[in-house]
Amino acid sequence: MTNTYAIVLAAGQGTRMKSDLYKVLHPVCGKSMVAHVIDNIIDLGTDRIVTIVGHGAEKVEQTLGEKSEYALQEEQLGTAHAVQQAEKLIGSLSGTTIVVCGDTPLIRPETMKSLIEHHNAIGAKATILTAVADDPTGYGRIIRGENGQVLRNVEQKDASAEEQKVSEINTGTYCFDNEALFATLKKVKNDNAQGEYYLPDVIGILQAEKELVSAYITDDFSETLGVNDRVVLSEAERVMRSRIAEKHMRNGVTIISPENTYISADAEIGRDTVLQPGTMIEGKTIIGENCVIGPNSQLVDSSIEDRTTIHSSVVLASAIGADTSVGPFAHIRPESSLGNSVRIGNFVEVKKSTLGEGSKVSHLSYIGDAEIGSRVNVGCGTITVNYDGMNKYVTTIEDEAFIGCNSNLIAPVNVGKGAYVAAGSTISKNVPENSLAIARSRQENKEGYVTKLKLK
Ligand code: UD1
Ligand code: CA
Repeated sequence: MTNTYAIVLAAGQGTRMKSDLYKVLHPVCGKSMVAHVIDNIIDLGTDRIVTIVGHGAEKVEQTLGEKSEYALQEEQLGTAHAVQQAEKLIGSLSGTTIVVCGDTPLIRPETMKSLIEHHNAIGAKATILTAVADDPTGYGRIIRGENGQVLRNVEQKDASAEEQKVSEINTGTYCFDNEALFATLKKVKNDNAQGEYYLPDVIGILQAEKELVSAYITDDFSETLGVNDRVVLSEAERVMRSRIAEKHMRNGVTIISPENTYISADAEIGRDTVLQPGTMIEGKTIIGENCVIGPNSQLVDSSIEDRTTIHSSVVLASAIGADTSVGPFAHIRPESSLGNSVRIGNFVEVKKSTLGEGSKVSHLSYIGDAEIGSRVNVGCGTITVNYDGMNKYVTTIEDEAFIGCNSNLIAPVNVGKGAYVAAGSTISKNVPENSLAIARSRQENKEGYVTKLKLK
């Protein structure tokens, strides 16, 4: 959209959140509220985006990076005062400006687009996006005249009992003629219950000056939720969660129970993958096609290739190949990389380790700081002894090696290609390729011992 600009308000502390984290940085489906707003505006495609920052400015800028320009509001004197801070950057431009609050993460780009189109089509100086709320408490109310024309907005705290009954609310999103906006902001006063400069007062001022102001009503109130406290935060999370699930289902992902599946906003999932109940897909996780994830699996910032199964397991910041099976009850810790056709079975912990194609660790093992080649079999109960209390050391196991059950591999140590380690061994020296290492005491049988014992 040309000659269109966006201002995002994100300077408030968010007192009602009762949090050390600045309000707009609270995540909804794993992504901060303000990042949702900015990404939606990027989808909309405006020429400029200015974010007003104040409380936690540095953190907000860190979160959004180059996606936005920034204007600092040093003191939080109200939403009109916040918008005024963008004057230095875009005040002299002609065109249309959309203003969105950083705490309304659910507003869709299509809705913003419709608002701008309506505003431009009628040639209004200001258009306010409104919705009809079942419970309008806390929102500004839209006051209309006898012919239905918008007269002004009144904040909850300034509203009379009669005005408080109005169910049409200000969603906090507006469209302005850019020059009219900055000219009118100078006329906003702070003689109200909160002693703040209210942005929606611009509507009343323009109306009094006989300029055309308008309201655009959206029929989906949930989209306009303004998150001021943790109760509404959980509501936003619920709405966003079902929206994300729906997107993936429409793309060919089966989600057995969407209410019991949590998918981050940034996750990507291939078609014909099935998500079983109790699954959490967090951060930037990418899952291929035809996978089965869950039940009860947590995947964070990981990649999973096609036809892989992750059953009742935790996978953190790791890469997992195709045709691989993990779990049930496995823990893949950060910086691990499993190849194709790998099998990780129950009660196996893998940390910062690599496993090549076709390797198996099927039961009850700890694999840490290990480089394991292809087609290696690691027997039940094997432990890589990687830590001496001060430093961590690497275990390498080359292709086609076979580690017998209940072995300790004391790192740094290397098991050569094709070598065997006998069950119950404690290996502290390198094992040459194609050899057998036995490192356990020999068995001695005392025949008839028990019989004699019992006769005593
Ligand atoms: C605001 C609107 C209200 C509307 C509601 C919709 C005003 C006066 N009220 O109320 O009509 O129904 O949103 O959700 O605008 N902010 C700044 N600087 C400031 C003050 C606020 O950047 O000085 C930012 C906040 O960080 C927040 C946004 O503006 O992202 C809205 O502020 P908030 O205090 O949440 O306003 P509401 O009381 O929800
Ligand atoms: Ca708010």
